[in-house]
Amino acid sequence: MRDVLLFILVVLLHFPNVSHASAIHDAATKGDVAAITAALDAGAAVDQSDGRTTPLYLAVKGGHFAAAKLLIERGADVNAAPEPLLGPVLMLALAKRRIDLIKLLLDAGANPNAQRGREAVLHIAVRSACLDCVKALVEAGADVNAKTKDGKTPLHLAKFKGQREVADYLMSHGVVLPTPAPISMKLASADVEKGRTYFTHVCHGCHNAEAQGGTKTGPNLWGVVGRDKASMANMRYSDTLLGWEGVWTYEDLNRYLFGPMLTTPGVKMETPGVPDETERVNLIAYLRTLSDKPIPLP
Ligand code: HEC
Repeated sequence: MRDVLLFILVVLLHFPNVSHASAIHDAATKGDVAAITAALDAGAAVDQSDGRTTPLYLAVKGGHFAAAKLLIERGADVNAAPEPLLGPVLMLALAKRRIDLIKLLLDAGANPNAQRGREAVLHIAVRSACLDCVKALVEAGADVNAKTKDGKTPLHLAKFKGQREVADYLMSHGVVLPTPAPISMKLASADVEKGRTYFTHVCHGCHNAEAQGGTKTGPNLWGVVGRDKASMANMRYSDTLLGWEGVWTYEDLNRYLFGPMLTTPGVKMETPGVPDETERVNLIAYLRTLSDKPIPLP
């Protein structure tokens, strides 16, 4: 009996809230500014959840600028992420490529470095080829060097997809391309056998290293040191590698293998590379041996 009374009391206490909540969600979905105002004035909480999402979420989802603006003015949390799979509300605006909504949210303090799953908002803007979205995010402080969980920078994505304008914009707004220290002088004392083992484990799945071997996912690497870059027939190279002039020197290999997507964004070799210097030196010393006449060590 006591439980029943308690239940009725709880229901009564919550009832006004529940009705306002559904009213404000309906109004937000429709973008009905007057109805949102009325619901708020009647006591609905601006970030009231309907079990799944908030009014601001619904307004942005519906593409209703005036409704979103009103909710923000009345204190809605622009960084709430009620549906973790969709991420914060900025992601929704981005998915719709609504630059007005994106700016509204950023001006109101939405986090320009918000993450969803494996990537940041800037990666999503680049993926959707929206230069204006990229600009708005960078102006609001998005990190142009942010990496996805598998090491892709916004510039890599832009170049990979051939988005020249986006790539140029990122380049002139703070992208840093890492340059590893020179290694040529360390090659003489490298451990070629360790390099061979490393190659077998990490590279051989994509690259043949025998003179007669054909193309796999990547080109044959027999004779690669001193060979013209991106010059194997039967291989469809990326524009990035095709555009890199000259032969493969030890230092060019050093730079490339350090982190292909970081040092030479846009490459089709989307692997983490070999950031450890000793491993990289051993590997390059091994690559040198893939030749009838290995070129001299420096
Ligand atoms: C997942 C497959 C994959 C793995 C693993 C891989 N590569 Fe590659 N590699 C490629 C592809 C694809 C290209 C062509 C890149 C392009 O066109 O941008 C390439 C290109 C190269 C080139 C340039 C060759 C040329 O003809 O100009 C070198 C050198 C190279 N890889 C070395 C390595 C080494 C060393 C490893 C091991 C640390 C490695 N790769 C691991 C796929 C891979």
